[in-house]
Parts: sequence; C-alpha cells; structure tokens
Amino acid sequence: MANHITINGVDVDVSGHPDQMPLLWFVRDHLDLTGTKFGCGRGLCGACTVLLDGVPIRSCQTTLASVQGRAITTIEGLVDKNEIVREVWVEQNVAQCGYCQAGQIVAATALLESNENPSDSDIDAALIGNICRCGAYSRIKTAISTAAQRMKDANTTVTEGA
Ligand code: FES
Repeated sequence: MANHITINGVDVDVSGHPDQMPLLWFVRDHLDLTGTKFGCGRGLCGACTVLLDGVPIRSCQTTLASVQGRAITTIEGLVDKNEIVREVWVEQNVAQCGYCQAGQIVAATALLESNENPSDSDIDAALIGNICRCGAYSRIKTAISTAAQRMKDANTTVTEGA
C-alpha cells in the first residue's frame, strides 16, 4: 500500500488512493497540477513527463505504489529551477499548439541539469521520447542549446563577480 510521495518538495499522503492509480491521474485530478498532460496514455508520447528523483519518467505508466517514498517533480515544481529554460522557450517562440511543451521542458531541464554542454545528439537522445505533433523539433533543439549557453554565461558571471 502506497502511503507517502514527495511531490514538488511537499510530502503527500496517498494512502486513500489505489496503489495502481497512475501518477498522472493523481497529480492532475487530486493535486490539480494540470501542467502535466495526458497525451497517449501508453508511454509513447512524453506529454506526461515528470521527474522521479531528477530523472524523466512517463507518469501515465507509473503507479503510485512504484514511487512510494520517492521524490516527484512536475512542471510546476521547476518554476524556481528552470527560469533560463522557460525564458529562452518564450523568446524563441518554441511552442506552436503547446500541448507537449510541459513534457519537453521537464525533459530539457533534466538534461541541462546532468549535462551543461549537450551536443545535438545528446539533445536528440534525451528528448527522443517527447513527441511534438507540430514538429517544433528544430526550435526545441535550438532553445536547449541556447539555454545551455546562457546558463554557462550566467555561471561565469557569478564566478567572476565572486
Ligand atoms: Fe504518458 Fe503519452 S501520456 S507517454
């Protein structure tokens, strides 16, 4: 029986919910965290991407029981952590219909957390499971590269000013 999950830094009691309930259902319907989207419901599109201990997962394929005691981060929980990514996303008009964008940004944020200088192939590999029905892939890739550079510049400025 699942009891507690940390979601966006908050300990959440899930004991009243079925163990096999998809995490996606729980965050959207019970916590009202609707930034995470339902796309295919089959683990194929990435619209439902959240982070499990910092690693992107498909919340539609993840049961509450399987993440018992673990830390989940949704797009809402990244607000204080990915300002540069979101800034670049807006500047470069990455989104077209926007439906997949939360999942794309969650995956991009996780990539930049683990790789500060991703190559095009690193970006392709990290986001291969995030499908965009508008085909905004080249803008997504450019935005991630730009965000990486901007994050590096920001770190350099902080270091130089120290
Ligand atoms: Fe989960 Fe498509 S909704 S992968």
